[in-house]
Amino acid sequence: ETVVLAYSGGLDTSCILVYLVKQGYRVVACIADVGQDEDFERAKEKAMSIGASAIYVEDVKEEFVTDFIWPWVKSGAIYEEQYLLGTSLARPLISKALVKVARLENAQYISHGATGKGNDQVRFELSIAALAPDIKIIAPWRDAEFCAKFAGRNDLFNFAEENNIPLPVSKSSPWSMDANLMHISYEAGILEDPNVSPPDRMWLMTKDPVNAPDAPEFIELVFEKGLPVMMKYRETEVSAPLELFKKLNEIAGEHGIGRLDIIESRFVGMKSRGCYETPAGTVLLTAHKDLESLTTDREVIRLKQNLGREFSVQVYNGMWNSPEAQFTRQAIDHSQQFVNGSVKLQLYKGFVRVVTRNSKTSVYDATLASMDELTDYNPADAEGFIRINALRLKQHAKR
Ligand code: ARG
Ligand code: SIN
Repeated sequence: ETVVLAYSGGLDTSCILVYLVKQGYRVVACIADVGQDEDFERAKEKAMSIGASAIYVEDVKEEFVTDFIWPWVKSGAIYEEQYLLGTSLARPLISKALVKVARLENAQYISHGATGKGNDQVRFELSIAALAPDIKIIAPWRDAEFCAKFAGRNDLFNFAEENNIPLPVSKSSPWSMDANLMHISYEAGILEDPNVSPPDRMWLMTKDPVNAPDAPEFIELVFEKGLPVMMKYRETEVSAPLELFKKLNEIAGEHGIGRLDIIESRFVGMKSRGCYETPAGTVLLTAHKDLESLTTDREVIRLKQNLGREFSVQVYNGMWNSPEAQFTRQAIDHSQQFVNGSVKLQLYKGFVRVVTRNSKTSVYDATLASMDELTDYNPADAEGFIRINALRLKQHAKR
């Protein structure tokens, strides 16, 4: 029987690979390239050398940007008003790659190395359930026998030594990381104490804002129907989604933008402390929101904000492929029809600030808003408008 294993090249999933082979499975390793910093050639060789029957590296970076990050930009979804969802967004895409490989290899099982206490197990398994209802899951970190065998980090090292699994070359850091194009998340280890501040060497995508350049950088972002279609930076223009996103990560990271240190509520119940850096995502959300306020009707914005909040929970909880998330995405798409135009931004020491914006489909009307001109709006009408609205409040005061 064949199992497709979500493989990272690291110690945990290498041990799982060997463990599954020992259990009698034919193991096909699959690495989804979502933009993590990894030596894929080395990981391939490693997987094959420790007993994988095949190894796939699926490059899904472009798809990550266009089919996951872009819909997220449109939604403005921020989980619990803080977390930009970088890990949550990648999981359904990784699941899609795993299912694709499972079909190619006629596999009955998919296995992953997520722990039994986190969100990721939920996201992988719900995504797989939605895409391939017939496929069964093997989650070693929820298996009593497996957990007893690998009770501590040392057990993994010993098992690796006994089974000729090459040990990681770099010393492992005192926290766990999940990296992709959009962000790096850090949690567990020394970060479990919310009263302990991480060392600066932890952050890999962004400069400490204190040490960021003393001169601000200016960029311009152009949107069409809520989607970023171009970035102007100094003399260059970038339009290709992946290239744009990567370049923006670089520029925003250099200026220390997008760091977070938060407590969040996991879907499975407990609070968890995490540090995140999402440089390009932070800038895109700021620009998009500004353009939305220029181009979008008041009541549509309000409804759309509520949908964005719902979407943040749907994405966080692993419900990307649910009927409610499909509905939310469609409704959000509709809200974006006038979100066209461009936004100039200043990036400076950890902050991103909108400096100017313009749009051909703006609802902003300078004449209407101006205090100096009278148009369709007659101030005398406001008197009745206020009186009618006051009626209810006066009743309330009397009672
Ligand atoms: N807490 C974040 C989330 O639930 C990040 C999880 C990071 N995952 C990991 N395997 N380190 O989206
Ligand atoms: C994990 O359990 O593998 C990481 C933490 C999480 O999923 O929330």
